[in-house]
Amino acid sequence: MSADKILVIGSEGQIGTVLSHALRDTYGIANVITSDINQPRKSVIGHFEKLNILDGERLLAIVRKHKITQIYHLAALLSAKGEQNPRQTWDVNMNGLFNVLEVARQENLDKIYFPSSIAVFGGQTPKKATPQFTVLQPETMYGITKEVGEHLAQYYFKKFNLDVRSLRYPGLISYQSLPGGGTTDYAVDIFHKAVKGESYECFLEPDTYLPMMYMPDAIRATIELMNAPLDKISMHYGYNVRAMSFSAEELAAEITKHIPKFEITYKPDFRQKIAESWVENMDDTYARNDWGWQEEYDLPAMVEDMIVNLKRINKQGSSEYDEKMFL
Ligand code: NAD
Ligand code: SER
Repeated sequence: MSADKILVIGSEGQIGTVLSHALRDTYGIANVITSDINQPRKSVIGHFEKLNILDGERLLAIVRKHKITQIYHLAALLSAKGEQNPRQTWDVNMNGLFNVLEVARQENLDKIYFPSSIAVFGGQTPKKATPQFTVLQPETMYGITKEVGEHLAQYYFKKFNLDVRSLRYPGLISYQSLPGGGTTDYAVDIFHKAVKGESYECFLEPDTYLPMMYMPDAIRATIELMNAPLDKISMHYGYNVRAMSFSAEELAAEITKHIPKFEITYKPDFRQKIAESWVENMDDTYARNDWGWQEEYDLPAMVEDMIVNLKRINKQGSSEYDEKMFL
């Protein structure tokens, strides 16, 4: 059996920055190739290929050149950015995924990872303990592309035996990297203001609950899902995965336990409607039963770790961009 050789697409984003590092730790630097439409940060280690995912020929060439066996396909436009340009969002998110699936099928790759999102929910979806199999009526172009993406993942597995795996990530919170234009970004931005002693103006209402997850849990969930034996994977749709759920006022209250002078104000914008179309918390029984998912971080543990790490980074005098380098 050939060794695993991994291509990460969209490696310079919020998740890719951290996931690429974790994959290199697991598989070795030489076995993880990173790629993005944007140039890498200066600190990037290992081999990087510039790639626009809409260029299927170049993707094929990279896969052949490096003898890739697995792809983690992260490149996408997220919910808020997506609503500024729905057509481009369809193009990048759908045609990009299609290119990945086609190259993977042609080249007989072992496994593909495609992240889905809580954005697949909407309309009549039950808001609490949202079941794995439920009404999906996404109200953003981003959510529509994630729902179709999940169907494509299942379709390619059934029709072509291509092992595509997926998680419905909640909003992700990280100190290592900045978010790239989603509705849950407030839950990262708030920390950057708080540790600098500044107040934060939140673009969501104080009492809107959303599912959230700390980045170390998200990375572990991703790698555990990908490493689970195929006979433990009961579906190739996105698995619901749960860690914590909170509103902006609850997050702010937790932050003030560490930074008592911290203040938050609220000025909801178009992202409020997007957040209201999503759910409060998910039932993730399938992930727990199939491949043993178990979160480690709840709200207090996440807040403490974020503040400790961001204070350390600030003390080292980094700019926000440089913060992406602290892994
Ligand atoms: P991000 O916006 O931070 O990063 C996306 C990366 O993709 C960027 O580095 C960008 O340069 C790159 N990219 C954009 N267009 C490209 C193209 N045409 N070709 C190649 N690269 C391109 O996003 P993220 O938060 O890291 O999310 C990664 C994946 O996880 C996405 O599919 C997203 O939908 C999904 N996801 C993220 C969250 C979250 O909270 N961050 C939640 C649910 C799902
Ligand atoms: N965090 C993402 C967003 O807000 C959810 O997929 O768009």
